[in-house]
Amino acid sequence: MIWQLASRLARLLPPEAAHRAAVRTLSLGIAPSPSLPSLPVSLAGLSFDNPLGLAAGFDKDAACPDGALQLGFGHVELGTITPDPQPGNPRPRVFRLADDGAVINRYGFNSGGMGAAKARLAARQAGPNRQQGVIGINVGANKTSAASTDDYRLAVTSLVAFADYITLNISSPNTPGLRDLQAGDNLRRTIAAGRDGMAAAGRTVPLFVKVAPDLEDADIEAICATASAEGVDGLIATNTTISRPQTLRSPQAAETGGLSGAPLFEMSTHVLAAMARHLAGNGPALIGAGGVATGWQAYAKILVGASLVQLYTALALHGPELPARVISELAALLRADGHDSIEAARGSIPDAGAAIRHALHLAQNV
Ligand SMILES: Cc1cc2nc3c(=O)[nH]c(=O)nc-3n(C[C@H](O)[C@H](O)[C@H](O)COP(=O)(O)O)c2cc1C
Repeated sequence: MIWQLASRLARLLPPEAAHRAAVRTLSLGIAPSPSLPSLPVSLAGLSFDNPLGLAAGFDKDAACPDGALQLGFGHVELGTITPDPQPGNPRPRVFRLADDGAVINRYGFNSGGMGAAKARLAARQAGPNRQQGVIGINVGANKTSAASTDDYRLAVTSLVAFADYITLNISSPNTPGLRDLQAGDNLRRTIAAGRDGMAAAGRTVPLFVKVAPDLEDADIEAICATASAEGVDGLIATNTTISRPQTLRSPQAAETGGLSGAPLFEMSTHVLAAMARHLAGNGPALIGAGGVATGWQAYAKILVGASLVQLYTALALHGPELPARVISELAALLRADGHDSIEAARGSIPDAGAAIRHALHLAQNV
C-alpha cells in the first residue's frame, strides 16, 4: 500500500526528478524486501537466484545496487559507465508516454564516469550492507571520444574488479556513431577491447554485448556469427528503439531518443527469437529486454530462448513492487506449463508470435 502510494507520488514529479528520487531512496535501503519463489538460473558460470534483472540505465553511477537487489532482482546491471564524467544531453531528456506505457529518453550517458563509480563500488565491497545477487557493469564510450574502442578497454580495466559480468553497450541511440560498433570489424574490435581491458586488470568475467532492436535480419545474423566466433558469453536483446510505432498515442511520441516499454515488447521479442534461430543453441546465451511489465511477458521471452530477462521502464511506471510480482507470476506460469525450471522452458516455443500468444493465454487462465 505504502509503495503504491509512493510510486503514485513519484509520477507527479517530472520523470528525471522521479528517477533521481528513486535512486536516492534505494541507495538508503528504503525498499520493499519481498520473499520470492526460487527460480535459479546458471549462465556462463554465474548463479542467479531468479532470471529477472534490472536493465542498465537506472543506476548509471553505481549508487544503489543493493537497494535494487532488495526489490527481488536476481541481477542488477549498473551503467552505462563511460571513462570520463559527462553531463549528457540538455534537459528535458526523458519523457513519460503515459497513454502508451512507454518512455522516451535521450539522456546521453550522463554519469560521474568510471572513477566515481569505482570509488562507490570499492566502498560497497568493504561495507556491511551487501545484498546477495549478480552485479553486471555496462560500459560505453564518451560522446567526444576520438577512439571509442579505447573507451571500452579503459572502462573495463577500471571496473572489472567489481563486476560479475561486463556488458559492452554498443546500442544506445543517444551517442552519435555508437550503434555503428554493431557492424562487422567494429564489433570484433570492440569485443577485443573488452577482453584487453580484462587482461590488463588480470580478471576475466563473462562478457555480454547489448544490441539494438532496429536491425535487419542479416544484421542480426552477422552479430550472432561474430559474437559466437569471438566467444561472447551473452547477447542482450534489446536496447531502446529509434522507431515510432504507428500505435503511439502520447504527444511526447515526437521527442527524439530511444523508446522503451510496452511498444517495444513485440519488436524486441522478435529480435530475440531471430537471435535464438541464428544461434541454434550454440554460442552466447540470450538475455531478453524490452517492454516486460508482467510475468507472462518475461515468460514469452524465455519461451523463445532467453535465459535471463531484464526490465527498466515498467519499474519506473509501476513502482518498486513490480519485480516481485513479475517473478511470482513467472513461477506460476512455469508450473502451469509443467516446467520445473527456467532451463526446461527455455526455447520451447521458438516462434515469437506463438510464444507471446501462448504466454498471454496461459496467464489469462491460471
Ligand atoms: C531512461 C532510460 C535510460 C536508459 N539508459 C541505458 C543505458 O545507459 N545503457 C543501456 O545499455 N541501456 C539503457 N537503457 C535501455 C534499457 O536498459 C532497456 O534495454 C530498454 O529500456 C528496454 O527495456 P524496458 O522496455 O524494460 O525499459 C535505458 C532505458 C531507459 C528507459
